[in-house]
Amino acid sequence: MLNPPERNDDANLPTAARDDGTGAEVPLSVYDLTVAYHRKPVIWDVGFDLPAGQLIGIVGPNGAGKSTLLKAVMDLIPRASGRVRVFGDTYRENRHRVGYVPQRESVDWQFPVSALDVVAMGLYDKIGWCRPVRKRHREQAREALGRVGIGDLADRQISQLSGGQQQRTFLARALVQDADLYLMDEPFAAVDAATERAIVEILRDLKERGKTAAVIHHDLQTVPEYFDYVVLLNMRVVAQGPVSQTFTQDNLQKTYGGRLTLLDEVTEAMRRRESSL
Ligand SMILES: Nc1ncnc2c1ncn2[C@@H]1O[C@H](COP(=O)(O)OP(=O)(O)OP(=O)(O)O)[C@@H](O)[C@H]1O
Ligand SMILES: [Mg+2]
Repeated sequence: MLNPPERNDDANLPTAARDDGTGAEVPLSVYDLTVAYHRKPVIWDVGFDLPAGQLIGIVGPNGAGKSTLLKAVMDLIPRASGRVRVFGDTYRENRHRVGYVPQRESVDWQFPVSALDVVAMGLYDKIGWCRPVRKRHREQAREALGRVGIGDLADRQISQLSGGQQQRTFLARALVQDADLYLMDEPFAAVDAATERAIVEILRDLKERGKTAAVIHHDLQTVPEYFDYVVLLNMRVVAQGPVSQTFTQDNLQKTYGGRLTLLDEVTEAMRRRESSL
């Protein structure tokens, strides 16, 4: 049994390494992170440093603690222990540099707002919470919806959007934020091929602009194609590193145990990646 969660206040802890040896700031460092629900730990002693300017896949079976990890990073749930550094400082200090795309099921889609309103929420840090959303903000939000291919649905209530359109709305919200680190919880879940391609384009565009994106992802076959770096999680970090070195059968077996039946397909996906390099 764990002790009750401690306060999230880690202001007195030593400052984490601010760069990764290349001079770039480390977008996200997690140290010894343990999170428990009702005193039962669901992630345990998790630690990693994410490389700057890369697309990172966070991969693991259902219930592995992936969403919990992202929520704990953003102080949305208490940590039992451990600490988190975002660009070398606390999340609170640098939250304006982080864009979050939540898991679609965790959102109340009946909330009476339009797609445009949701996207404009991404600008609140810039606008100020109690200030009016101005015409130029609305235009910015409209433009972001255009970038994700649903500019014509800007005034539609979010409850009246399809799943893929809802997903695109949240991506647009993250885009207007112009963050440096994006945390995305299964943006590819239940989207059609066109939306999947649109999301991949957005991720590549973010990378070109020097941004870092950590993306929870379930489709093992596309990991080598979409991501540069991977964190394999199953309550603990099983392995982390560049996809070419880390996304191996052995590590996947350790992450998924007997449940993995896709190993051959993953091997095939890796072979495809190597032949396209
Ligand atoms: N609010 C909660 N209260 C109690 N237990 C929870 C809560 N949220 C998640 N859990 C449990 O914590 C574990 C990790 O859940 P989490 O949602 O982080 O997994 P995940 O890796 O994101 O899974 P998935 O791939 O299904 O989204 C699961 O066993 C889940 O049942
Ligand atoms: Mg999840």
